[in-house]
Amino acid sequence: MILGLFGAPKADMVGTEQMSADPWALLPAASTNAQAIDTLYVFITALCGISMLGVVGAQVYFMWKYKKPANGHRKTSPITHNGRLEFIWSAIPALFMIVLFAWGEIGFVEQFSPPPDAINVRVTGQKWDWTVEYPDYPGAVLSSSSAVPTEEQQKQLQAAGEWGEDIIDRKPTLIVPTGVPVRLTLTSKDVIHSFYIPVFRLKRDAVPGRYTTYWFEATQEGEFPLFCAEYCGDEHSSMIGYVKVVSAEQFEVELKEATKLEQKDAESLADFGKRVFDRGGCKTCHNIDNDEAKTGPSLKGIWGRSEQLTDGSTITADDNYIRESVLDPNAKIVSGFSPQMPSFAGRFNDEHITALIEYLKTLK
Ligand code: CUA
Repeated sequence: MILGLFGAPKADMVGTEQMSADPWALLPAASTNAQAIDTLYVFITALCGISMLGVVGAQVYFMWKYKKPANGHRKTSPITHNGRLEFIWSAIPALFMIVLFAWGEIGFVEQFSPPPDAINVRVTGQKWDWTVEYPDYPGAVLSSSSAVPTEEQQKQLQAAGEWGEDIIDRKPTLIVPTGVPVRLTLTSKDVIHSFYIPVFRLKRDAVPGRYTTYWFEATQEGEFPLFCAEYCGDEHSSMIGYVKVVSAEQFEVELKEATKLEQKDAESLADFGKRVFDRGGCKTCHNIDNDEAKTGPSLKGIWGRSEQLTDGSTITADDNYIRESVLDPNAKIVSGFSPQMPSFAGRFNDEHITALIEYLKTLK
């Protein structure tokens, strides 16, 4: 709403799309929980408005009624107190406080008590992407990292004149069905992140070393933005994606489609490898076009390079080393780095890894 006052965002601006062209439009309430929260919110706002009118109204009335008379004198009233009046103005607000507490508490408990038939979804935050896994659907893994290129990558793409909508591999970060409860279990690999889906009124911290849960039931089909709402480092703002809400019948089809990663007809192995690389979110931690190290070493010229490991030995980056680094990343750590890479075992199969190796060979 506030942003709207400063004009519509530029067309080439990166980030999630505007949900409505109308700057005064309210956020859609796309889950049962969102509707419940909005009802309570409207109630509290109305209560505050009515209370304000009562207090300010009485204040203005008394200012007028007891204003200093023209002759400059008025005797103070001898009344000390009024028991009945004082009881009423204490009891009524107290009653409202109890209502607000009970309403809020019931809603709060509800939010943390998922129904037993809920779909399980695991959400893991890591600098700077979200990984979403569906334990009930083997192999179904989504990630936010392919949603938007990092700021640095955008600059490079802009400089090369390649920047445009089609450059973004807009895969959903989360796919959920309508009318079916979904239970999220959140955690983080490094720092505190916060999983935030405004249309569901859902904001939950993802904390390293512990699991937090939340559940919701989507009511409206569509694509809605999701964010990280906890400042987690310099690319915090790229930790965004979108949730795709589809009908219950369409859910499994969409999930399969979104997580499919196969070589296309006439696609070279290296090109397929690049898609594997993008899907894995590898670019979050590895530079590919300069020698600068990020969380992990640069992969520019990795093929055939000699690497000094933390144990002092030296290794040549060949097929087997790359394969091991993908499946068991902590087996051999390059000197100067810490074991932070997650294993891709179960996410990447042999074809994926072979393609990835071919792609890495092209990074010279
Ligand atoms: Cu993760 Cu901000």
